[in-house]
Amino acid sequence: MHTLITGGGSGIGRATALRLAKRSRISIADKSGANAQAVANEIRASGGKADAYEVDVLDGAAVRTVVAKADAVEPIDALFNNAGISVRTEIADISGAEWDLMLDTHARGMFFVAQAVLRNMVPRKKGAIVQTSSDFAVMGVPGMAAYCAAKCAIYSLTKALSLEFVQDGIRVNAIGPGPIDTPILASNRTEAEYRDAVARNETRVPMGRLGKPDEVAAVVDFLLSERASYINGQLIHPNGGTVMW
Ligand SMILES: NC(=O)c1ccc[n+]([C@@H]2O[C@H](COP(=O)([O-])OP(=O)(O)OC[C@H]3O[C@@H](n4cnc5c(N)ncnc54)[C@H](O)[C@@H]3O)[C@@H](O)[C@H]2O)c1
Repeated sequence: MHTLITGGGSGIGRATALRLAKRSRISIADKSGANAQAVANEIRASGGKADAYEVDVLDGAAVRTVVAKADAVEPIDALFNNAGISVRTEIADISGAEWDLMLDTHARGMFFVAQAVLRNMVPRKKGAIVQTSSDFAVMGVPGMAAYCAAKCAIYSLTKALSLEFVQDGIRVNAIGPGPIDTPILASNRTEAEYRDAVARNETRVPMGRLGKPDEVAAVVDFLLSERASYINGQLIHPNGGTVMW
């Protein structure tokens, strides 16, 4: 098995890379080449097979080059399409550039990655894809309009891909995590704002705590495995019971 993980240099992607490395070669693709390399080194140090690739998923040509390189090492039969960003801005203050970056990173970026991987997967008639959406795809959240719209696009993209490639033996699902304790939660926040966000999330999640990256990785591991052979086109929520959908 060979799994390509975008955004694998940090948080949920990193946890998934470390977990899957027990049964798969891992190719880590991340905008941060240094973080991708650090995770690849960690996997190799524990006896696994891993390579790191620095790539911005917004760059379609670069994505195709990385996918071709990784696929030449060993055919990619699993994709965790996960790279993402988060910015909180009130609707009145969202600029065109910010809107485009949010929608492009998630919808356009994940589309480019899926398209490049599917080109090789389809003739082989075998593969599984998991894309990272969010519970915000199915709930409205003040200050997060662009993120909500971007993550809903991922959910729609997942459903379309899952039907287009079902006859090719390829399953496509999405995950919709609730608040997970990763660096994204602290991004663009002061220390006080971060503590406030953690407290708010602990109140809003019925389980009363943030999720751990490995609790999401476990779901991705399952969805990419044969144990999930009859699950296709779904949005699965590791979210402590926040959204019941
Ligand atoms: N942490 C949460 O609470 C939460 C909840 C729901 C969904 N998500 C989603 O989970 C995914 C992973 O986020 P995380 O929480 O692990 O955050 P993170 O910041 O730890 O990891 C995100 C990774 O994506 C990479 N990345 C960002 N933009 C990129 C680009 N253009 N090209 C390539 N790589 C890029 C970053 O370098 C980083 O390594 C994201 O899609 C995020 O939206 C996170």
